[in-house]
Amino acid sequence: MKTTHKILFQDARELKEIASESVDLVVTSPPYPMIEMWDEMFSNQNPRIQDALAGGDGKSAHALMHEILDSVWDEVFRVLKNDRFACINIGDATRKVRNDFCLYSNHARVLTYLLNIGFSALPDILWRKQANTPNKFMGSGMLPAGAYVTLEHEYILIVRKGSKREFKTEKEKQNRRESALFWEERNIWYSDVWTDIKGTEQKLSNAISRSRSAAFPFDLAYRLINMYAVKSDTILDPFLGTGTTVAAAMTSGRNSIGVEIDKSFQHILCPIAHGIIDFSNDYLHDRLLRHVAFAKTRTEKSGPLKYRNKHYGFPVVTSQEQFILLNGLKEVRDCGDNIFEVMYTAEPQDLNFQQPSASIAGKKVKSYNRPIQPSMLDV
Ligand SMILES: C[S@@+](CC[C@H](N)C(=O)[O-])C[C@H]1O[C@@H](n2cnc3c(N)ncnc32)[C@H](O)[C@@H]1O
Repeated sequence: MKTTHKILFQDARELKEIASESVDLVVTSPPYPMIEMWDEMFSNQNPRIQDALAGGDGKSAHALMHEILDSVWDEVFRVLKNDRFACINIGDATRKVRNDFCLYSNHARVLTYLLNIGFSALPDILWRKQANTPNKFMGSGMLPAGAYVTLEHEYILIVRKGSKREFKTEKEKQNRRESALFWEERNIWYSDVWTDIKGTEQKLSNAISRSRSAAFPFDLAYRLINMYAVKSDTILDPFLGTGTTVAAAMTSGRNSIGVEIDKSFQHILCPIAHGIIDFSNDYLHDRLLRHVAFAKTRTEKSGPLKYRNKHYGFPVVTSQEQFILLNGLKEVRDCGDNIFEVMYTAEPQDLNFQQPSASIAGKKVKSYNRPIQPSMLDV
């Protein structure tokens, strides 16, 4: 198995290099309008934004910033295949411009535009991040009619172009089965409020600097890719930033295209290819360990699970999990021009997966670098 990853340093408002109806999933997070760190980025793309902000006209600045994003959403709609999803992580902004304090509702504005250009909305995910700052309650303190509630959540808008995706051939169906999630993952990943993903959880070990706080967590991109695309699909992120989506696509056995206007990210993105093998294999290995720990706890509590995974031999709750196969990364080729190829292992044991000790349940799992021993997989 092989995947290809292409990074384009350009403006995503015009994606001529990407053919219409060639992408299977979009996972992205744009710069958030009216969050101050993005003022300059937006103003560079339309100087009228700077004028509006300087003139104290927050509402016009907000509208102009969204016009920039609108052009990217048009391109997203064009390049997506029919019956495919786009997942857009976006937060609202609170801001005082002159003496006027208000919420700028980015998620509502983006969703309205997406629906206008032909997308259908699906239930969205509310990503509740933990903010623990002492001054998080703002406004007039304990006195009524002047305070406002804390803003500690962002949205992941889920929209679809067309309707239900069909998997027609036996090959497509088998690929879908191998791309399935574990039952216990499904229960958390497909819930509409995510509270378990912290901003700093998963890091590409020393390879990528996350000093730019705008990066979303690896887990967020990895989940969405595994929920809304199958192996060998092509994932697009038109606002790539530090490259999280491309890294998550590499780890998931999906192809990807990342677009980023800021060339200064190039020195961050290139190390993706160099650090990704160890990072991905540890991540996949931990995912298997988490499942085994779950299966062990559940077996102890409620008796043996009904099915077994055909590749790893461990118990699973449903028949749909019997063919799950996580492909370890074997080699990354830098093909030049910001194009990378990833080769994967074909055999499950190549991931060096080994059943954890009994004490693993509930603890942070770490990776083991010993070969798999099928007899040890019984839970
Ligand atoms: C919120 S950040 C994305 C962070 C990314 N999800 C990550 O994990 O690193 C938004 C990115 O969009 C880029 N950007 C802004 N306008 C753009 C445009 N018109 N075309 C392409 N990229 C753009 C910014 O430079 C910034 O890196």
